[in-house]
Amino acid sequence: MMMSELDMEHMDRPYLKVSEVKRYFQAQGRTVKSVDGVSFDIPLGTTFSLVGESGCGKTTLARMVAGLDRPTAGAIAFDAQGAQRPHRVQMIFQDPYASLNARWRVGSTIAEPIRFQGLRGAAGVDLRVVELLQRVGLAAADVSKFPHEFSGGQRQRISIARALAGEPSFLVCDEPTSALDVSVQAQILNLLKRLQREEGMTSLFISHNLAVVRFISTRVGVMYLGRLVEVAPTEMLFERPQHPYTQLLMDAIPRLEHGRRRVRNASGDVPSPLDPPGGCTFHPRCPLAMERCRSETPLLKAAADGSAVACHAVVPTVHASAA
Ligand SMILES: Nc1ncnc2c1ncn2[C@@H]1O[C@H](COP(=O)(O)OP(=O)(O)OP(=O)(O)O)[C@@H](O)[C@H]1O
Ligand code: SF4
Ligand SMILES: [Mg+2]
Repeated sequence: MMMSELDMEHMDRPYLKVSEVKRYFQAQGRTVKSVDGVSFDIPLGTTFSLVGESGCGKTTLARMVAGLDRPTAGAIAFDAQGAQRPHRVQMIFQDPYASLNARWRVGSTIAEPIRFQGLRGAAGVDLRVVELLQRVGLAAADVSKFPHEFSGGQRQRISIARALAGEPSFLVCDEPTSALDVSVQAQILNLLKRLQREEGMTSLFISHNLAVVRFISTRVGVMYLGRLVEVAPTEMLFERPQHPYTQLLMDAIPRLEHGRRRVRNASGDVPSPLDPPGGCTFHPRCPLAMERCRSETPLLKAAADGSAVACHAVVPTVHASAA
C-alpha cells in the first residue's frame, strides 16, 4: 500500500509519544506494577486504543496521558506541531453521572471550560453552549436542566459536549460507552467518530469491548499485566492476531456465524500485578509456553508491516528491530 506524504510525516512526528512509562503503587507494603514499561506513539489525527482484561493498567495509563497522574518512570510527550488548534487534552470517563456536577445546570457545566480557558467573551459563551448541545444531538432548551433529568446516553452526550467545550486537540476516552445500552453505545460511538473526523482530534481510547475498538480505532495496543504485548493497525490485528494472548481475546468474542461462543482451553484467571509470574507474565495461561518463557521477558519487536509483538514464539515476518 502506498503511503501519502502526510502519513509519512505523521509517522516521523507523532502527536503523543509514550516512552518506557511505568507507574508503580505502594499497597499494603508491597509494590503494584500497574504499568510496567509501556511505549507507543499516536500520530496526529488518529485514534489509538488500548484493550486488555480488567486490571491490566489501561486507566492508570490513560490518567497519566491526561495529566491526572505522573509516571514513576519514563516519559509522556506531546508535539502539537501541525495540530488544527492549540494543544489541549480533555478526558471522557466511563460514568457520565459521576463526572457531571449534579447541582449544576447543564448550561453551567458546559460553560465552565469555556470560561476557565477564556475561549469566548462573555457574550459568546451562551451561544457556544447551545452550539455544543446541538452538536452532540441535544436541544438548546436543555441548558437549564439538571443531570438527573437525562438518560445515561444523554448524560454521556453532555460530558462529550463538556469535553468539546474545552476545544481539545487530544481526547482521552476511558470506557465512554460501557455503562450504556448497546443501541445507545452505537449512537455515542458514531458521534465520537464523527467528531474525531470533523474536529481533527487525536485520541487515546480505552475499552475492553473489541467490537467497539474495531469500529473506532486506527491502531490498537493489547495490554497484559501492565505491558503491551501486541500493537498493530486495527484491521491487521483483527484479521491476523499474532500474540497468543491477543488470539485468546479474539477467541472470546462470540462467533455469530457459528451460532455459539468458542472458548479455548488456554483461559484461566489473570495473575495479580502484586505478584506477577516471572519471564513472560502470560506463560501460565499460554498454550505455546516453552522453557525460555519462564525466565526471559519477551521484548516488543516491531516488524516492517507496522505491527509489534512481544513473544518468543512469534518470529516477525519482515524485519525486526526493538520497538
Ligand atoms: N491508586 C492505586 N493504588 C494502588 N493500586 C492501584 C491504584 N490504581 C490502580 N491500581 C492497581 O493497578 C492495576 C491496574 O488498574 P487499572 O485501573 O489501570 O486497570 P484497568 O485496565 O483500567 O482495569 P478495568 O478494565 O477494570 O478498568 C490494578 O491491579 C489496580 O488495582
Ligand atoms: S513468550 Fe512464551 S509464554 Fe509468552 S506469549 Fe510467547 S510463547 Fe507464550
Ligand atoms: Mg479502567
